[in-house]
Amino acid sequence: MVNKIIVAIDGYSSCGKSTIAKALARHAGYTYVDTGAMYRTIALYMLRHQIDDEAAIIAALPKIQVGFIQADGAQHATLNGEDVESQIRTLEVGNRASEISQIREVRAFLVAQQQAMGEAKGIVMDGRDIGTVVFPNAELKLFLTASPEVRAQRRYDELVEKGETPNYEAVLADVNERDYRDTHRAESPLRQAEDAIVVDNSHLSREEQMNVIYGLFDKAVNH
Ligand code: DC
Repeated sequence: MVNKIIVAIDGYSSCGKSTIAKALARHAGYTYVDTGAMYRTIALYMLRHQIDDEAAIIAALPKIQVGFIQADGAQHATLNGEDVESQIRTLEVGNRASEISQIREVRAFLVAQQQAMGEAKGIVMDGRDIGTVVFPNAELKLFLTASPEVRAQRRYDELVEKGETPNYEAVLADVNERDYRDTHRAESPLRQAEDAIVVDNSHLSREEQMNVIYGLFDKAVNH
């Protein structure tokens, strides 16, 4: 029988986590879960309903069902059954997600769902707290990083591709601000698990990086 494992991928925003996680899931035949999309989906609900106050955010959680569907050959996030994939990928929703992810109850709400998704193993999950909180016993933990400038350029290119007209300096400031918030919050701050393997992809091509990661995966499976 093939040994199925859990792969936890954490790291800063815009360092290519989801591209890498998706490619690895495809390579392994595993399920991919983008936990950032789950925080973004909750953030979208709060923006749509103009809910700002922490107590009101917590009270609204039971009304929110976050899910995933396969559409156009990709995974799309759903909010109470509605495909919201394109709506959650804006800077505004990303920033709101970073804010609401500081609330303990929001994290507990999503972490429980994420842990349930990993029960059967055979999963690649990416986020900020996967190797530290969601799956501290994951067989393979990767911590991805790249310089803020490289990440800002990638995010800038993504936004341009979506038809937005970003300003590079503003995108860089946003990357730095989000890094600060993600690493300094009281609840499950982004940090490297002690047993995580660090992959800095500032100067790696996608192919070089995937070769490194497939190698680490094959070693972890055959351990
Ligand atoms: O990876 P992303 O940019 O889609 O994530 C959006 C925000 O959600 C990010 O700023 C922090 C938060 N997040 C989190 O706190 N924990 C996770 N496991 C995933 C995302």
